[in-house]
Parts: sequence; structure tokens; C-alpha cells
Amino acid sequence: MKIKLIILLFGLSLFGYSQKKSPKKQVKIKPRTEFVAELLSKMTLEEKIGQLNLPTSGDITTGAASSSNVAKNIEDGKVGGLFNIKSVQKIKEVQKIAVEISRLKIPLLFGMDVIHGYETTFPIPLGLSATWDMKLIERSAQIAAQEASADGINWTFSPMVDISRDPRWGRVSEGSGEDPFLGSEIAKAMVNGYQQNDLSKNNTILSCVKHFALYGAPEAGRDYNTVDMSRIKMYNDYFPPYKAAIHAGVGSVMASFNEIDGIPATGNKWLMTDVLRKQWGFKGFVVTDFTGIPEMIEHGMGDLQTVSALALNAGIEMDMVGEGFLTTLKKSVEEGKVTIEQIDNAARLILNAKYDLGLFQDPYKYCDENRAKTEIFTKSHRDEARSIAAQSLVLLKNSNQLLPLKKSGTIALIGPLADAKENMAGTWSVATNMEKSISLLAGIQEVGGKDTKVLYAKGSNLDYDAAFEEKATMFGKTLHRDNRTSEELLVEALKIANQSDVIVAALGESAEMSGESSSRTNLEIPQAQKDLLQALLKTGKPVVLVLFTGRPLVLVQENETVPAILNTWFAGSEAGSAIADVLFGNENPSGKLTATFPRSVGQVPIYYNQKNTGRPLGNKEGKFEKFRSNYIDERNEPLYPFGFGLSYTTFEYSNLKISSDKMNYNENVKVTVDVTNTGNYEGKEVVQLYIRDLVGSVTRPLKELKGFQKIALKKGEKQTVTFEISVEELKFYNSELQFIAEPGSFDVFVGTNSSTDNKVSFELIK
Ligand code: BGC
Repeated sequence: MKIKLIILLFGLSLFGYSQKKSPKKQVKIKPRTEFVAELLSKMTLEEKIGQLNLPTSGDITTGAASSSNVAKNIEDGKVGGLFNIKSVQKIKEVQKIAVEISRLKIPLLFGMDVIHGYETTFPIPLGLSATWDMKLIERSAQIAAQEASADGINWTFSPMVDISRDPRWGRVSEGSGEDPFLGSEIAKAMVNGYQQNDLSKNNTILSCVKHFALYGAPEAGRDYNTVDMSRIKMYNDYFPPYKAAIHAGVGSVMASFNEIDGIPATGNKWLMTDVLRKQWGFKGFVVTDFTGIPEMIEHGMGDLQTVSALALNAGIEMDMVGEGFLTTLKKSVEEGKVTIEQIDNAARLILNAKYDLGLFQDPYKYCDENRAKTEIFTKSHRDEARSIAAQSLVLLKNSNQLLPLKKSGTIALIGPLADAKENMAGTWSVATNMEKSISLLAGIQEVGGKDTKVLYAKGSNLDYDAAFEEKATMFGKTLHRDNRTSEELLVEALKIANQSDVIVAALGESAEMSGESSSRTNLEIPQAQKDLLQALLKTGKPVVLVLFTGRPLVLVQENETVPAILNTWFAGSEAGSAIADVLFGNENPSGKLTATFPRSVGQVPIYYNQKNTGRPLGNKEGKFEKFRSNYIDERNEPLYPFGFGLSYTTFEYSNLKISSDKMNYNENVKVTVDVTNTGNYEGKEVVQLYIRDLVGSVTRPLKELKGFQKIALKKGEKQTVTFEISVEELKFYNSELQFIAEPGSFDVFVGTNSSTDNKVSFELIK
């Protein structure tokens, strides 16, 4: 429905203003409550409504948006913030209109989708989550905040914490996978990274958790589609990461596009007021997602005035792009459909955020051109991004230790993603400079060194269908479609394959095959590339599949036929170097999947923390059993389970122990396990702890992640890993939606991924 077009920069002159005065110096002002109340008392109703309006800047236009006359509106006090405007110079110029020309001189917020890095781009969020390393994830957000703030931005629309169990949904790439516990830890790390608990600094920015709520569970995996979910499932499985972000102090929340209980989130008072504010105590402001307000007309909720009033009454403070608030709220006040107090309250929350950011003291706080020159895409940020990217890669298969590769001999690098710098950063990387991303070809040439001969051929296009490729390479993320026939491309590829010692096949999705509005019904690698891969395997040369993807894919054929598979997601601006670091063994892969990889699209939605049914399958081999819960044409288990990922070394788990087989409500139990590096490389392992609550007043999942630790072990080294379980980890929402732990037996599993059955047990007693 919505098409985003990145168009060339608007040019400051369009606003018709040039800078005359020098930026103001920081001044002392009254405490927030007093300051904002005083300001509000001076504002007209139109100016208050103006604060609730968030148009786009003009740098990025959107098909359905109607945000013209931005400069005039700013001058008239009709704009609270702008988003997706890039560069200090431009931001300064626009801020100047607000603080030097508009009547009350209220500074603007400048937002942007800084999702996984700024110009220094980190792996897509699904990839970042695969590091299972909260310090690294927080650090990536901190660097993103530093670069964005150095370029004038003070507000990011991140983190996206939507749990998803459906890889058909393209935005699975933008979240942290399927698990509420891990998702909550990551939500906290991201908020802390951006805000650093101190918005008064000039290198931290306001964070916005999104998309509240349940956006990751659309029917049929189709973006923006209906969500229909029981409350108990919302509270137990989908709400925790949003709540964790609120508790970490996130300053703003973005509403989701979908409906919940038959009411779009944007107009859903239960969600925005009862849950978010009353139950969770959220004190910041809520912004719509894009045209969320006018979209309620399509949902069948009434005309623009009705849906705008519905949104304000529900608890929305800021209208992104829709201009429903701007054009109808005054009338609604006059007609008694909304109150002045509600508008005051909404304006107050937005002014509070501006106050917290220090914009009233210095509206040009983030407009330091020197910072823009020295703090963005720096060598040290890129080095960190390279290391983080390497740790996000997941080794899915490595027969006969084909990897790591030797830094000698001849490598045939083949595939449409091999020399594709435009596609390395991945989806939603608005500020990235695609030209500066490192392709896999460049990375292999650099890391392979002078003794490695690298031959390259494209081998195939992304897909046989040129029209499909066009949809999959939008926003400048071209794969430079080759006009030769498939046969010609293959002949060239086979020629270099036959001259090589090893083939590295760079295949999978293009960056825009996932992300917003990129849902798929087929989860395989596109056919042209599957055919290429099978032809390469026929040469008899060893083949390493370097997989690019923004979602879990169905890789049954590849898993059966290819000796080594390294999943690299879209690893960011340094992707090529990071992948090469792993391929040649400079880095040992340590990423673990945070979303289940199915065997078939028919298994979707698929996730590890499922319930048992009354007719579970009675055998582990996956043999079909009539009148049991299974398929006649596919096994139940996934291809790669949640938490799965190999290393060049091996880890052995032993000596799993629990400190007591009984636990009171006010006690903890300690679970210990010895992990030994039994292989030939030093490496990192994510030790995972799952619980099963065996009997409950409501049915409980077969396993739930409740702890994890990423440890580094040298060759032969052994470490005892200790987890503490308190009653908090045993709590869940019951059918009355009370958060409680029930007495009874629990199993505790500790292992290398979610399929482990290495367990101990204890009893929780009242
Ligand atoms: C997306 C949001 C994003 C917003 C602003 C919407 O289409 O759903 O995630 O923050 O656009 O660009």
C-alpha cells in the first residue's frame, strides 16, 4: 500500500532561509514541570496541536503522505518534529525556523529510522540478536546514537521488539526473533545503548520502542494484516519485550499498524492507556506508525475526524505524517469529541521529551559540524562493526571441517550476492552509504591475502524472473541484473569452478526480500540460485554456501547436499570483511539462531516454546503416527532449532547439577554445568538454560528460555557455568492474567540449543 522512495536531497534553499545568527549558548532553565506548564499556558490551541504533528522532511517522500509546506508549517508553530532528514547543516537550518522564526520558538525533534547503526551499519537486528551478547548489542546502539547525534538526529525509531514466529513476515529481519525472554534482554540493551540513561548528553538520543503491539503476528505472515490473539498469549509471549523497554526507560513508543481485539492499535484505548500507562507506568509519549491514523479509515473506523479523535482518546500523542490531528482536532474540541485537557496532556509529554533532551537550553545541541566530520563512519566504529558482524554469523553445517578455509590455493567465488556491496547493509539502513560497504569479494580478497587466488563469477541472477528482482532490489539496492542467458552465466561460473580448490557460493535473499512489505509465501532460496548451487555441487569440488538472508529460510535441500553452510544475514557495512574473517578462521563463528528454521513453509508458525497438545507424537525419530499431532508429509521438528549454531571447535557439557531439589518462594536454586572446549580452536559458546513447568493451572510450554551466558574458552579449557533460578523466572500469566508462580515440579534443561534434553529437576513448594 505504501511505497517509500528515497529521492535526492531536497536542498536547504527550498526552505528559503539562510543562517544569520550563530547557535545559542546553553542556558539555565526552570525545572521541567514548571517550565513546560508555563510554556503551555502561552500556547494557543493551534500551537498545542502543532506539537502533535510529525511530518517527513521531504528527503524521503511516501506515497500516501501529505506533508507539504513543511517550512511554512514550522514557522506557524504547526510542527512538533521532523523525521528522516539527514545532515547537520540541513537540520540546523530547519531548527532555526522553529527557534528563531516561529512565535514561541519551540525546538523540533529530529527523528530517523536508525535501526541497526547509522553510517557505520551493524547486522540487521535478527543478525545482531544471534550474537546473544548484550554488551555488543548495547554497544552497537551506542555507536549508532553517537553517529546519529553527530549528524543532528535526536530521536530514533528503534528498537523494534516485535516477537515473530512467522518467517513469511518480512519484518522478522528487523526484530530479535521468537523468544520473549531473549527479546526482553535485547530490548533493554538497545534502549540503554541509545539513551545511556542520560539524555542530557549530546551523544545519546531518545529511543522509541515499536511497534506496539503484536505487529509480528499478522495472519498468514502478510504485512499489516489482522492480528487475532488471546490475551494470555499476548501477556506471556508477545508483550514482555515492550514492557522491558518501558522499564528500561524508553522515552517513546510507536503504535503498530495492526488491529488488536478488533480495534487498530492506534485507536485502542485498552492497549495504549490501560496496559501501557496504567499497568506498565509508561510516562513518555506515543507516536503513530506513519499514516496509522488515516489508515483507520480503511480499517472501517470512520472518517478522518472520527479516527483522529479515536487515536487521541486512546492515548496517542503524536501523529506521524497522517495530519489527522493537525486538520481535525480543533473541530473535535469545539464539538466536544476531545477535550483541551487531553491536548494539553499530549503536548506536555512531547515538550517533556524536548526538555529532557536539553533542546530548550540549546536547540542546536546536536548540530556540531565538527562532530559530523569526525564521529561518523570512523575507523574505530567500523572495526567494532566488523567484529560484531563476525559474531552474528551462524555456522549451520561444517562437514569434515571444510571451514575454515586455508589462506592459499584458488577460491571460486560465485553467486549474485558475492559482489553486491549495495546489499550488504540489509533492509532499513536509511543512513548507510551503500557505496562504502564491503562486498564479500572485497573481503575475501583482503583477508585471503596474497597467496589466495580469488576467481569470481556471478553464476546467476537473483531469480529467473526480472520483475521479481526489481521488487527485491528497491531503494538503490541493485544486484546489477545480468542480461546474459542463464546458460551463459552458468558456463562462466563452471569454468572458474573447475579451476578452483574450493567453491564459495554467495547465495540467498537480496536485502529487500525481507523488511517492510516484503512478506513471502515461499521460504526457499530463489530457484535460479538453487539450480546454480546444484550445478556447482556436480563439479565435485567442495562447496561452502555463504547464505544471505533476512529471515529463517527452508534449507532442506541445501542441508542435504552442501558440506558447509554459513548463515551471514545482512551483516552491515563491514559484512564482506567480517564474513571473510570467519571463512578464513580469523574469527570462530559463535552466533546462534534466535528464530527457528523450518523444514517446510507449511510448519509455520513454528517456534521452540510450543505447548504439548493432548496427543503429542510418541517417537523421537519423527515417524508418522495416526491420530497424533503430526503431518503426513513432514516431520514436526524444524531443520535448525532455536538456539542452534556450530563452531569450528566443539563443546562438551557435563556434570549438570542443581543445588537443591526443593525451592521455597523466597529461595533461589543454583544450576551448574561444566562446559569444556574439546576441539582445536578457541571459541565462544552460548550456554542456554530452559525450564519446563510440568503442571499448571493453564497449559505451559515444553521449554522456556530463562537464562543464557556467552562464554569464551581456550582449547582444552573447562568452565563451570552457574545460573540462579528465582521465583521470578517461574512466573507466568494465568487465565486471570495474574503474574504468578505455581507450586509443583520443574525441569531445568541446560545445553547448546533448545533441543537439548540434558536436564535436572526441582520442586517449588509453598
Ligand atoms: C515503519 C516504521 C518506521 C516508520 C518511519 C513505517 O512504515 O513501519 O517502522 O519507523 O515507517 O519511517
